[in-house]
Amino acid sequence: MVYDRRPEDMVRITTPELAQAFIAEQIEALQKQIGDRKVLLALSGGVDSSVVAAMLIKAVGQQLVCVHVNHGLLRKGEPEQVIKVFRDEMKANLIYVDATDRFLDKLAGVTDPEQKRQIIGGEFIDVFAEEARKLDGIECLAQGTIWPDILESEAGIKAHHNAGGLPEDMKFELVEPVRILFKDEVRMVGKELGLPDGMVYRQPFPGPGLGVRCPGAITRDRLEAVRESDAILREEFAKNGLEGKVWQYFTVVPDFKSTGIRDGKRTFDWPCIIRAINTTDVMEVTVEHLSPELMDHLVKRITTEVPGINRVLYDFTPKPPATVEYE
Ligand code: XMP
Repeated sequence: MVYDRRPEDMVRITTPELAQAFIAEQIEALQKQIGDRKVLLALSGGVDSSVVAAMLIKAVGQQLVCVHVNHGLLRKGEPEQVIKVFRDEMKANLIYVDATDRFLDKLAGVTDPEQKRQIIGGEFIDVFAEEARKLDGIECLAQGTIWPDILESEAGIKAHHNAGGLPEDMKFELVEPVRILFKDEVRMVGKELGLPDGMVYRQPFPGPGLGVRCPGAITRDRLEAVRESDAILREEFAKNGLEGKVWQYFTVVPDFKSTGIRDGKRTFDWPCIIRAINTTDVMEVTVEHLSPELMDHLVKRITTEVPGINRVLYDFTPKPPATVEYE
């Protein structure tokens, strides 16, 4: 049965058995809903869209067409992981679009945070719609809508913009296999569907990606500094048992330079700010305090391995007064 709303008496999916039962029931319901039609999915590699993809691959196999748009603002290794997991391992019908140049060209010189977000969101829809038009006979659109999205849009907290934004003439029947699930349930289902832990338990990542961690006008070199420092931070958190323990952690490279010294010569480079926070609801967050040893190690690695960085700073500000992201 395809549910529009979460049944009042639905038991929270907290065990592999409950997840398996949900998967079996939903696969049957999806096969009934979709029949022999084709389904399109924008696969970002985030938890929700990945679980939707895995579920649909089980239910309708090659009738699912996944489109992964790389907007150039993804973390290091993410597009590669999407291709490896879905195309190579799950044998999904995956279209990979490297739209990096398109996005970065449009964003060149744009400093206003809201304008940056609008450009990224608008361009994403354009690229996705263009890919959809190249395909024949697509009747359904799958989405990773989850139950809190529905509740929040009903409460007027945030517009639930899935499916919104596509051109008027592109009408699809919606397929939303995790619509009635809470986030923890989506993760449980994803694990049972065989997705890797790195995908199922990944930290939240904003839609505009590293773009909001490269404050001001995005340049390719500063964006690369964000991506490389983020990769080092993630690697060190994993090695030091902090992955899965700290709620969210990332780096920001602001658009100013300061004087430094390397190999006896003056440098004039950017600082890299580390942010690591804990929360339950993201309305209020506290700061994770790292050990001095780990701090020293991060400073050493980031300043020696990331071109353009000569200083590392730590953000000790809770929310409020600061938000989690910088833009
Ligand atoms: P803020 O910065 O508002 O962030 O304190 C709260 C949480 O939301 C994430 N975030 C976003 N997620 N699209 C998203 O999907 C966005 O535009 C966006 N902006 C912020 C942020 O990473 C944090 O977890």
